[in-house]
Amino acid sequence: MIDRVASWMRAAERVAVLTGAGISAESGVPVFRGDAGLWRQFRPEQLATPDAFNRQPELVWDWYLWRRACIAAVQPNAGHLAIARWQQQRAGVALLTQNVDGLHARAGSAAALELHGNLWRVRCPAGCGFTALDEATDAPRTVLRCACGSWLRPDVVWFGETLDAAAIETAIGIVADADLLMVIGTSAVVYPVAALPQIAREGGARVVEVNVEETPLTGQADAVLRGLAGDVLPALWREP
Ligand code: OAD
Repeated sequence: MIDRVASWMRAAERVAVLTGAGISAESGVPVFRGDAGLWRQFRPEQLATPDAFNRQPELVWDWYLWRRACIAAVQPNAGHLAIARWQQQRAGVALLTQNVDGLHARAGSAAALELHGNLWRVRCPAGCGFTALDEATDAPRTVLRCACGSWLRPDVVWFGETLDAAAIETAIGIVADADLLMVIGTSAVVYPVAALPQIAREGGARVVEVNVEETPLTGQADAVLRGLAGDVLPALWREP
């Protein structure tokens, strides 16, 4: 199956790569779902919603600072590096990610479309448009204020929020035009991102899932590569 998918990759003019928390798991960044997932330990409605931030911004910030500290202490893994190599060694590889950890950029990937934002950025929720990089990792944090007076929040998408309209439109365009969509390390349950594989299929793309376990996408995929992203991805592309 690896050889078949490798041949699809060589033949494809446009490859779209969609990643989720599983690609960062081998770096030591916890995933969200499953026995070792963050949502077993923490309640999303207390930490990852606009209401939670309005109620207890310091608590929410402390959780994000803790996650930043975890991420700052780890390195991109063989899976991230393989995707960066695909982008560097062949044309037409677009990267879409649900991850907010910034590890694709640290691995050398150009311009990942970060559909759920990036936890190394802050933004003003009051609509004044202010965003900035912020590398603090030490909790507890005094919540920072924007020049307009509002609190600054992590620039990530929370439950109950819509994705940036331009970003999701771009993602839809990319997968609709792709010949091959690689879906890597995502439970494929969080919409609207979970709809992208179907849009790719309707546009004529082959869809390949890379995951350690079955997901709702498994039955629709043209090929399933069952294994660790860090083992599977480097085997799919050899420098020509
Ligand atoms: P999940 O935690 O839901 O899913 C991680 C997926 O990665 C699972 O299907 C695992 O089987 C798989 N996996 C784990 N380790 C792997 C490895 N080494 N190689 C390959 N696959 C592996 O994470 P996401 O699907 O990214 O959103 O979650 C989607 C969104 O839900 C997140 O962006 C976040 C979350 O709640 C928000 O916070 C809005």
